[in-house]
Amino acid sequence: MNIVVVKDYNEMSAKAFELIKAVVTENPKAVLGCATGSTPLGLYDAMIRDHRENGTSYKDVMTVNLDEYMGLDKENEQSYAYFMRKNLFDHIDIKLENTHIENGMASDAQAECDRYNALLAEHSPDVQILGLGSNGHIAFNEPGTSFDSVTHAVDLTESTIKDNSRLFSSEDEVPRRAFTMGLKNIMAAKKIVVLANGGNKAKAVHGLVCGAITEDVPASILRMHSDCTLICDEAAASLLPKERI
Ligand code: F6R
Repeated sequence: MNIVVVKDYNEMSAKAFELIKAVVTENPKAVLGCATGSTPLGLYDAMIRDHRENGTSYKDVMTVNLDEYMGLDKENEQSYAYFMRKNLFDHIDIKLENTHIENGMASDAQAECDRYNALLAEHSPDVQILGLGSNGHIAFNEPGTSFDSVTHAVDLTESTIKDNSRLFSSEDEVPRRAFTMGLKNIMAAKKIVVLANGGNKAKAVHGLVCGAITEDVPASILRMHSDCTLICDEAAASLLPKERI
């Protein structure tokens, strides 16, 4: 795993942008694996700015998102489908029909997982962007998830519900279940870029870089990927031994 430690959030976003832009420039039909949450917002801002200023085009790019809350319609402002439109898709020239995410309102959960797995089998990301949960989750693959998992429905852990409640008016409103790509789907991406910032991610970053490769720390599977880059700020890297930085 390549580890890049930068000063702060802005530098992390700028570095991530360089990597994503290189993929899209090299292959205008690239498949981007997208994440939601606070971490990639600076990257998405940089993509929007670059699209406006330099004309980088996403008209033939396809996206697949990691996860979606169950029970939220794509027009619901808390849904990840809405998040992606508001924070990226509405501001670049991507075709909405080329953007993919699990359907939170699917009545048959297993059929929805099967549909998404079939889509991913055909369109594996050229680059997958990941944030890191404070408990070491990636997408909504919580500690204990099988390394062999593919898209599935999950019960979110208390710590994830608490972390995500900042985006809802109360903890009670956070959906308890979600669809998520599995760890096996994520590992199928050609390239992976993991982003982490802030002291609340330091323990998870330590687990990712230095701990055992174990299903108890889902992100630790990324050490087995042949092209994975972790970009983190100094606060998130604060528990890493000096020789790893
Ligand atoms: C989001 C996702 C989650 C987040 C993680 C970090 O699509 O899959 O795994 O990446 O929970 O969230 P933030 O970035 O809000 O700290």
